[in-house]
Amino acid sequence: LRIAVLFGGRSAEHDVSVLSATNVMRALDPVRYDAVPIFVTREGRWLLSSFEDGALEKPASGSEVSLLAGGKGRALAIPENGTPHELDRIDILFPVLHGLHGEDGAVQGLAQVARVPLAGCGIIGSANALDKDIAKRLFNEAGVPAARSLTILPDSAPSFAEMQEKLGLPLFIKPARQGSSVGVSKVSGEKGYETALAEGFRHDTKLLAEEFIDGREVECSVLEAPDGSLFVSRTGEIVPADSHGFYTYDAKYIDADGAAIKVPADLPEGVEDEIRTLAAKAFRALGCDGMARADFFVTADRRILVNELNTIPGFTDISMYSKAMAASGVSYPEIIDRLVAHAFA
Ligand code: DAL
Ligand code: MG
Repeated sequence: LRIAVLFGGRSAEHDVSVLSATNVMRALDPVRYDAVPIFVTREGRWLLSSFEDGALEKPASGSEVSLLAGGKGRALAIPENGTPHELDRIDILFPVLHGLHGEDGAVQGLAQVARVPLAGCGIIGSANALDKDIAKRLFNEAGVPAARSLTILPDSAPSFAEMQEKLGLPLFIKPARQGSSVGVSKVSGEKGYETALAEGFRHDTKLLAEEFIDGREVECSVLEAPDGSLFVSRTGEIVPADSHGFYTYDAKYIDADGAAIKVPADLPEGVEDEIRTLAAKAFRALGCDGMARADFFVTADRRILVNELNTIPGFTDISMYSKAMAASGVSYPEIIDRLVAHAFA
């Protein structure tokens, strides 16, 4: 099977995607899969890449790949100076892209238009999950507990007083459509509020203000079988180092000691089952299919709140998705096999 692995991308999580895709490439069984890595530049060009000595090439120029130009579901490689030629048939597209333009339904729609089977979550689930504002509304409607929040648009930013009254302090300001905590600020007083809004609006035109939940961060992996049934993994816990205050981008990817991961999470009796049930419910509430990682907060008084779903979860060395699956007896290559089986279902 020829599997095209998309990586890089236009979002702020470009570098994270490179780490994720490197691991995906390593996990692809070379006997069963003929992997075609495609580097998506920060500008959004799709360039044929290669995978050598365990590393992905990030070409600055070369052959552009067009999924549509070949017609009949065939992709075309278009060299800078040379004749475009048809690529061998791509059987399946696996976007290992995080954030906007990759995890938001856009590439998923392209795959559908180009009639190439897609590994992972489809259009609507991707779009819903990536937009924290839309996701929140759907969680609320489905009765999946989530932190209280307010939506902030550029022309309707609530005053600090209003915000404080509704959500308390501290609170978080987040871009609605970003991942890896990019552009997220913790606000403890009026002084930081304007700066947090400005920082958020650098990354998106819609923000979410969220109440601070003093809880443990617990995550689990959801993987849909070809028959539509959901496999939900054991849970894992993220334990951020105190120095970072919350699970920031740096704590995730820059500082090697920024956070520890504990799988399975050590939780009070019954909590893990409840989380796994809520994960499946949240997955359905957003219209997801294929795969997602469901992130939760668990408070000392045993409240369980969904934080978000990531439909293309990180596959970096420190990422939870594969670790939680491994704790449930599903290996990395097996995850990929199941995603592929789902794509052809
Ligand atoms: N958005 C990052 C990659 C994650 O959720 O793992
Ligand atoms: Mg995320």
